[in-house]
Amino acid sequence: MPTAKTSSQPLYPAYLPTRPDGYAATIDVPPFEGNEPGTRADPAKPHLLRPDVEVTNITPRIGTELRGIQLSKLSQEGLDEIALFAAERGVLVFRDQDFADIGFERQLEIAKHYGPLHQHPTMGYPEGTGPEFHVVFADENAGNLRTLLGPRTSYDLWHIDQTFTRNVPSTTFFWVLEMPASGGGDTAFTSLTAAYEALSPTFKSLLAPLSLFHTSASVGEVARVGTERALREAVSTTHPLVIRHPVTGKPSLFVNPTIARRIEGMLPEESDTLLKFLNDHIKSLDFSCRVRWEKGSVVVWDQRSAAHTAVPDFKDGERRHMVRIIPYGSQTKPAFPDMYGKTNEST
Ligand SMILES: [Fe+2]
Repeated sequence: MPTAKTSSQPLYPAYLPTRPDGYAATIDVPPFEGNEPGTRADPAKPHLLRPDVEVTNITPRIGTELRGIQLSKLSQEGLDEIALFAAERGVLVFRDQDFADIGFERQLEIAKHYGPLHQHPTMGYPEGTGPEFHVVFADENAGNLRTLLGPRTSYDLWHIDQTFTRNVPSTTFFWVLEMPASGGGDTAFTSLTAAYEALSPTFKSLLAPLSLFHTSASVGEVARVGTERALREAVSTTHPLVIRHPVTGKPSLFVNPTIARRIEGMLPEESDTLLKFLNDHIKSLDFSCRVRWEKGSVVVWDQRSAAHTAVPDFKDGERRHMVRIIPYGSQTKPAFPDMYGKTNEST
């Protein structure tokens, strides 16, 4: 249980989480023709890669940090370039942003550039707004992720957000309002394209035909509303295990440890064993990076390129206040349509 006292008032009281109507059922999203702004971006990214912008790769395989550019001032073309750059690099970290202070309407307007917004069934949103805002909030009363999940040895919870519909989340915005006073609370990201590339040709050909069952009855939702309700109201779909990224065209290992837990057509032991390998494989430091939050940081990532996890290592009782908005992109497509869904029944 939380022990420390959260001493001060929140820096952003207007963004405290509210849920006046309580928990809602998970919303199913009928398939639609998705918008992929990254596909129309200038590959040279002239609005982002200006001479006055400091651009640093966090690792060669994932993550790029940008200083000297304001997200809120970008043109439509600049926003398109963000979609392309996030698709290529997995995650972009924009430092020294005014984004937290531009108001609800502008925040929504920028995120909507990338597609219709996901409405979360259980997370709180700022009073007067709606469930398109997902407030991630910890303090002495709300507790933190450790409080939610109960005693465990560790709290890595690698996942892709909300992948239980045919259209899946794309260029996602996540920003910090207030950091834990004693530090910690990073967010880690891992490249699903680099994780795929690391596999042998033999293993890749084993994965190409496969599809994976995704359900909204995730680890987090079960913790929030209980197993029975989470299962009763579950929204589910299947996606190819290896998708073709709609912007970069690269194969991406579309596994999701908290949401996708069954490979179609396999017996339970087979599916469990293969998914255990893949779910462990994507966690490697070879493919991942850790983003340290600073005041004014905004992270933009592509959910088809990267999985992520919170790092809930900050002290119990300390306040951590973040906000996320998730647009939906296109429907997933198999990386190798000629092989997808084909199994040899005769062997
Ligand atoms: Fe998440």
